[in-house]
Amino acid sequence: MMAPTRREDHATQPQSPSAEVLRVQGLRVAFDHPLGLVRAVDDIAFSLRAGERLGLAGESGSGKSTMALAILRMIKPPGRIDGGRVFFDGQDITDLGIEEMRRLRLAGIAMVPQGSMNSLNPVLRIGEQIADALRDHDVPGAEHAARIAELLPQVGLKPEIARAYPHELSGGMKQRACIAIAICLKPKVIIADEPTSALDVVVQRQVMQTLAEVQRNLGAAVILVGHDMGLMAQFVDRLGVMYAGRLVELAPIADIITRPRHPYTKALISSLPSLERRAPMLGIPGLAPLLRDLPTGCAFHPRCAEVFDRCRGAKPEVRQVADEVWVACHLVEALP
Ligand SMILES: Nc1ncnc2c1ncn2[C@@H]1O[C@H](COP(=O)(O)OP(=O)(O)OP(=O)(O)O)[C@@H](O)[C@H]1O
Ligand SMILES: [Mg+2]
Repeated sequence: MMAPTRREDHATQPQSPSAEVLRVQGLRVAFDHPLGLVRAVDDIAFSLRAGERLGLAGESGSGKSTMALAILRMIKPPGRIDGGRVFFDGQDITDLGIEEMRRLRLAGIAMVPQGSMNSLNPVLRIGEQIADALRDHDVPGAEHAARIAELLPQVGLKPEIARAYPHELSGGMKQRACIAIAICLKPKVIIADEPTSALDVVVQRQVMQTLAEVQRNLGAAVILVGHDMGLMAQFVDRLGVMYAGRLVELAPIADIITRPRHPYTKALISSLPSLERRAPMLGIPGLAPLLRDLPTGCAFHPRCAEVFDRCRGAKPEVRQVADEVWVACHLVEALP
């Protein structure tokens, strides 16, 4: 049993009940560390509409992968989920049993885990690895070959690739194979954790185009985890920005790019190189904080260009500041 969410008043979070396929409410993950508790995911809330593409960006260690794993209840000790609820397709899946949760993974919510192309089984052919997933979900063996032959072209691979071993494939092809495994049961939600970060820019683009096609054809919603803001700008409908385990801004991508509100988001956007504006590259001063020893108040305050007194003392709540825009910052006025 999970503890109830610490703050139940997430009525201010984005909700669109008819089209909502996933809702995360007050999700929290902690790691027990000898030097103290590490809160890797802190009270995260958002919802995802059917067919929507949501990006999750943030520095390394900000909790993106941990959050993704928590949605699927795949956090392993010393980590634990210690608060929050997750709803999928209108059903509260927070307290599902192990077997029910196993069935939901892949079939309902599928994940392309971070670094997955390097964790394909080296001694199994690609087709066998897809068949494993189908078998796990009780697809009769007689259907496997046809399903695999139909699946591979959907991710831009020839059906013959079913007989190849991972070492015979390029990085882009391996990533496509991972996407094929993720979509083999036609999930409603695909969580892709940095699916292109190990690929060169040309292949990156091709793989993203494939992911976009697959997503459109299936009508699935996608959560794209990454820190490439340029890629996000091209792919997602909305973007969530994470900092030290919290979602500090969530808004439609056009709003974020043209009018970022949180100083951390502003810094992320202004660190993007621009062809028009030839100026020295701007970085974000300082380092991401240690999660077990977070600054008081707003965790970003020691690095923030706009810091003022209140930021050092009080942690800003996530508040709605405009239509579809949620921000956790003392500088930003909430909607009345
Ligand atoms: N097994 C673990 N034991 C202890 N702490 C962990 C463990 N896994 C993750 N953490 C903590 O959770 C934090 C968030 O990690 P996570 O992998 O979710 O970050 P991320 O945003 O996905 O980073 P990246 O961009 O590098 O993938 C880490 O900074 C670390 O403090
Ligand atoms: Mg990660």
